[in-house]
Amino acid sequence: MIVLGIETSCDETGVALYHSERGLLADLLYSQIDLHKEYGGVVPELASRDHIRKLAPMVRQALQDSGLTRNDIDGIAYTAGPGLIGALLVGAATARGLAWAWQVPAVAVHHMEGHLLAPMLEPKPPEFPFVALLISGGHTQLVKVEGIGRYEILGESLDDAAGEAFDKTAKMLGLSYPGGPKLSALATRGHTRLHFPRPMTDRPGLDFSFSGLKTFALNTLQASERSAQDKADIALAFQEAVADTLTIKCRRALQQTGLKTLVVAGGVSANTQIRASLSAMAAREKAAIHFPRPAFCTDNGAMIAYAGCQRLLAGQREALAIKAKPRWPI
Ligand code: KG4
Ligand code: ZN
Repeated sequence: MIVLGIETSCDETGVALYHSERGLLADLLYSQIDLHKEYGGVVPELASRDHIRKLAPMVRQALQDSGLTRNDIDGIAYTAGPGLIGALLVGAATARGLAWAWQVPAVAVHHMEGHLLAPMLEPKPPEFPFVALLISGGHTQLVKVEGIGRYEILGESLDDAAGEAFDKTAKMLGLSYPGGPKLSALATRGHTRLHFPRPMTDRPGLDFSFSGLKTFALNTLQASERSAQDKADIALAFQEAVADTLTIKCRRALQQTGLKTLVVAGGVSANTQIRASLSAMAAREKAAIHFPRPAFCTDNGAMIAYAGCQRLLAGQREALAIKAKPRWPI
């Protein structure tokens, strides 16, 4: 089965073709970062308009790159949420329209399910069941995964998502949007001298809270001379606190569930220090750990094509309605 995947939930247009036996046949990504940069964050209306401009040509390009025609496509998967409603509608309407024209089924995919299954695209995919840590710009969740579509939320952020906290702290340090990777680069020049709290780790449970860390960073910055070194030291202390907090909660989730496989996905899973901290913990716990390759940590069409393909193979079929849900629990 060959599935076309379409991702337009935020500021990335992703288009991919996934073959159920041969793997990825095409994978295209267009990032709108330059478009939104001057505003310091994603402008929803600009995002929708740009998805409209880019999506159809990218679908054509993906077919061309893989030497396929529309007759080879067996189904279409699109991100139906959560995300920006206008942006989602572009992908959803395009997917539904193409599915109608090509007379193939289309399936609505949950964006976080896409992230969660992204490590399945790697040469050594994880085996079910596993614990998944999803860390993106909009979500921070620990999920018990029994199989495709069998998800139980073990814990989540009560306020800011991990990526959101990275982006807001980065902005505070004078870094441009999207700040997560830039804060991480700044942290490499930091000296270990500050200690930030590890929120909600001293009580039981698997929920997170990251908004206090951002305030802690602001107070530390204001109390400092705001030199370049101060900023790098704050970036490092912030990143260490996030990495440590995530690691403590993941260890707790593995111990509570008795599972021995941890999957880490979503934009923040591209962070080197977080990957290292989680990997060291997994080794101590004798657990297997799986990450997507860095390009599949952040938003992409490949993960949506994969998730949709699994759902179509399982026989899932949907009514012709165009589904777009800005808020949608996994
Ligand atoms: O999964 P994603 O591409 O989009 C959402 O579904 O939200 O995640 C984007 C988030 C942003 O907050 C971005 O700053 C963060 O992931 N991010 C990082 C890194 N790369 C991306 N945060 C920390 N370190 C990184 N290397
Ligand atoms: Zn995402």
